[in-house]
Amino acid sequence: MATTLTAQRIKTVGVIGAGQMGSGIAQVMSHYGECQVILQDIQQQQLDKAQAGIEGSLSKFVSKEILSEADKQNTLGRLQFATDMASLKEADIVVEAVVENEDLKKNLFRQLDELLKPEAILASNTSSISITRLAAATRRPGKVIGMHFMNPVPLMKLVEIIRGAQTSDETYAIVNDLGKRLQKTTVVSLDYPGFISNRILMPMINEAIFALFEGVGSVEDIDTVMKLGMNHPMGPLQLADFIGLDTCLSILNVLYDGFKDPKYRPCPLLVQKVNAGYLGKKAGKGFYTY
Ligand code: CAA
Repeated sequence: MATTLTAQRIKTVGVIGAGQMGSGIAQVMSHYGECQVILQDIQQQQLDKAQAGIEGSLSKFVSKEILSEADKQNTLGRLQFATDMASLKEADIVVEAVVENEDLKKNLFRQLDELLKPEAILASNTSSISITRLAAATRRPGKVIGMHFMNPVPLMKLVEIIRGAQTSDETYAIVNDLGKRLQKTTVVSLDYPGFISNRILMPMINEAIFALFEGVGSVEDIDTVMKLGMNHPMGPLQLADFIGLDTCLSILNVLYDGFKDPKYRPCPLLVQKVNAGYLGKKAGKGFYTY
């Protein structure tokens, strides 16, 4: 019988995808979790960018005296960067943070299922793809779970844990403890479209876009209402730019298709922005120009 894991025994963590989310997850797993972390991406250039980003983020914490120089060096020392998937072989848990493409994620999970030891956990940082469907692509559905971090990962205090239909109590307990070890507050959501976070966030963002589309208010006024009137750190249109308008559209489509309820229909203005390539901050233009 396979040995079982506990959160304390999670020593080696694999993270797949060295974008903003993946690099943030790798950083906190090494920093707070004190785990050996292998960040894997097929593009060396992306890994170099992630390494520089993590160093920059840790340096900010050092300059604010949140972290000592020695802690920064230890955090960096526990991080490895790799282009080949085989480097993840010894991982106790792998968190995938690749683009939101279900076939790509299923394919990755199939490969990881072959590669990893039987007791290893497969986690996805997906913001909307069904954990139950990803789990069904593996022979270890009980060990598949959602670990949804928020951007920017080193600053945001939440991890939303998603239990698929077959996620075991043991897997949930281990991942919940790991989230706490990362000094995050954890919440648990069942595996329904948008989970908790995006089921609430995306309709708000979509409604803000409809308000703009219908001429109720300007970009600045809509955001100012939510920032100063509701104490949100960012207005919904700025937040949409920050998340990526393509990502917002794709999550809204998951909600719309999943619930078959017109209240989730994406605003035509959002669709048009995405078609035009105005994807938000990363593209230099969305509702704002950067
Ligand atoms: N590491 C270290 N420091 C960082 C950092 C990082 N990764 N990112 C930002 N900082 C620092 C900034 O450099 C800045 O430092 P200084 O004060 O020294 O300049 C400090 O944190 C504060 O940042 P800013 O001054 O730029 O702005 P801010 O005070 O507004 O804080 C913010 C930034 C924390 C992002 C805040 O605006 C915020 O909370 N915004 C909302 C974020 C949010 O809602 N995220 C969730 C998105 S949804 C999601 O992720 C999931 C999904 O499925 C879509």
